[in-house]
Amino acid sequence: MEELYQQGKVRAIGVSNFAPDRIMDLMIHNKITPAVNQIEVNPFQQQLSTQKFLQDNSVQVEAWAPFAEGKNNIFQNEYLLTIAAKHQKSIAQVILRWLVQRGIIALSKSTRKERMIENIHVFDFELSAEDVATITILDTKTSSFFDHRNPDMVKWLGSRKLDV
Ligand SMILES: NC(=O)c1ccc[n+]([C@@H]2O[C@H](COP(=O)([O-])OP(=O)(O)OC[C@H]3O[C@@H](n4cnc5c(N)ncnc54)[C@H](OP(=O)(O)O)[C@@H]3O)[C@@H](O)[C@H]2O)c1
Repeated sequence: MEELYQQGKVRAIGVSNFAPDRIMDLMIHNKITPAVNQIEVNPFQQQLSTQKFLQDNSVQVEAWAPFAEGKNNIFQNEYLLTIAAKHQKSIAQVILRWLVQRGIIALSKSTRKERMIENIHVFDFELSAEDVATITILDTKTSSFFDHRNPDMVKWLGSRKLDV
């Protein structure tokens, strides 16, 4: 990837699901620090310390599963509903706004046109410090999916690698 970058064939190098220790390992053994790290970030897995580490090392955080793919009844969460009602926005918009205010790129997904439009309209309101503090309470510091640092999981993911 570094060769392709130096040849101008790729404009940036990005990684996904790299914990801080893996990013550090990558940085000290290579010339180019990745521009972006795509990791799970949502109200249940907020990644506050990881974000600080990545910011300190100039790696942009990109959030996958910003809605936790709907797990844990996120779209019915009473704390998020209260904040959404206050701003006359949806829970999805509150979550995306929260990510924007944290300086995180949100990679949300929808198959429905009306929700894609809804999800883009997050630049006409602002969450207060109190709203953000309320969302912080929801952090379980645990993935809603699986642990990328579990060796068995890493082995399973490796077995799914595609030949390209
Ligand atoms: N790098 C990785 O390891 C990794 C892992 C997982 C996912 N990803 C990527 O992350 C991106 C995000 O997708 P995701 O599926 O993981 O998670 P997500 O965006 O957290 O959740 C998607 C779910 O939210 C629903 N949704 C979207 N907008 C909504 C709205 N405004 N109101 C209510 N429901 C809404 C969608 O339903 P509808 O479609 O019915 O609207 C879908 O069921 C994808 O591009 C995916 O490829 C990356």
